[in-house]
Amino acid sequence: MKKFAFVTGANKGIGYEIVRQLAEKEYHVFLGARNEELGQKAVQSLGFSNVSFVPVDISDTLSIQSAKNKILEVTDHLDLLINNAGIALDFGILPSELKLETLRQEFDVNFFGTFQMIQTFLPLVKKSQGGKIVNVTTDMASQTMFANGEIPQLNILGYNSTKTAVNSLTLAFGTEFGTSGPEILGVTPGFTTTDLNHNAPGGKTTAEGAQIIVKYALSDTNYNGKILDKNGIIPW
Ligand SMILES: NC(=O)c1ccc[n+]([C@@H]2O[C@H](COP(=O)([O-])OP(=O)(O)OC[C@H]3O[C@@H](n4cnc5c(N)ncnc54)[C@H](OP(=O)(O)O)[C@@H]3O)[C@@H](O)[C@H]2O)c1
Repeated sequence: MKKFAFVTGANKGIGYEIVRQLAEKEYHVFLGARNEELGQKAVQSLGFSNVSFVPVDISDTLSIQSAKNKILEVTDHLDLLINNAGIALDFGILPSELKLETLRQEFDVNFFGTFQMIQTFLPLVKKSQGGKIVNVTTDMASQTMFANGEIPQLNILGYNSTKTAVNSLTLAFGTEFGTSGPEILGVTPGFTTTDLNHNAPGGKTTAEGAQIIVKYALSDTNYNGKILDKNGIIPW
């Protein structure tokens, strides 16, 4: 059966490279982007016949619903849903200085958006034999690693807590799915130089970051309900 993947936030950065790597593996990939022009441009510049654009703003319920309808015109199943879209608005801002409105905006996209994406597309993922949902997370969201100082101490309360909440989605849906249902897992690419961190130097390339996500997306090992970095399972 033909394989289908949907990647959100894929007009640039890590998402764009995830699309490329899955398209090379002969998936039909729906490249999700909230901006029509940027999404179309990304599809054109990738140059694959098996990549098509699906507009989706994950903070907008109607947009998610119309993305689903657009995909249903092509297929009734999704083998991979990669929840990659995300924002970080509080780099360099101390918790004591974080504005409530900024925190809400981050939760709106990273947490509520990802939650709605999972609920909306779950019926399509369930229709695939071995369907998988990958939530892109960060090691900075691991409470254990943060408390133990195992990662660079970037105390970004807003961004980090939204991804901790995304990890909760992974655990909760994973618990619901058990061993027989679809799989849901969280994967961190690790520090990757992108617009998200204002292109901070010293990170992985977007292709390297994407490779880690694609490795787990295509793995035969069942990591349902786990969060992972390039070396394997990481603590909550
Ligand atoms: N870079 C890192 O070091 C790193 C580390 C760990 C995890 N991550 C995670 O990796 C993922 C990709 O980030 P990136 O580093 O590649 O950043 P990026 O280059 O800024 O890409 C983020 C993507 O998300 C999209 N997006 C933002 N809000 C959206 C919304 N409401 N609806 C749909 N799409 C939306 C952006 O679209 P626009 O172009 O329209 O803004 C863009 O396509 C994120 O989830 C991030 O948290 C990144």
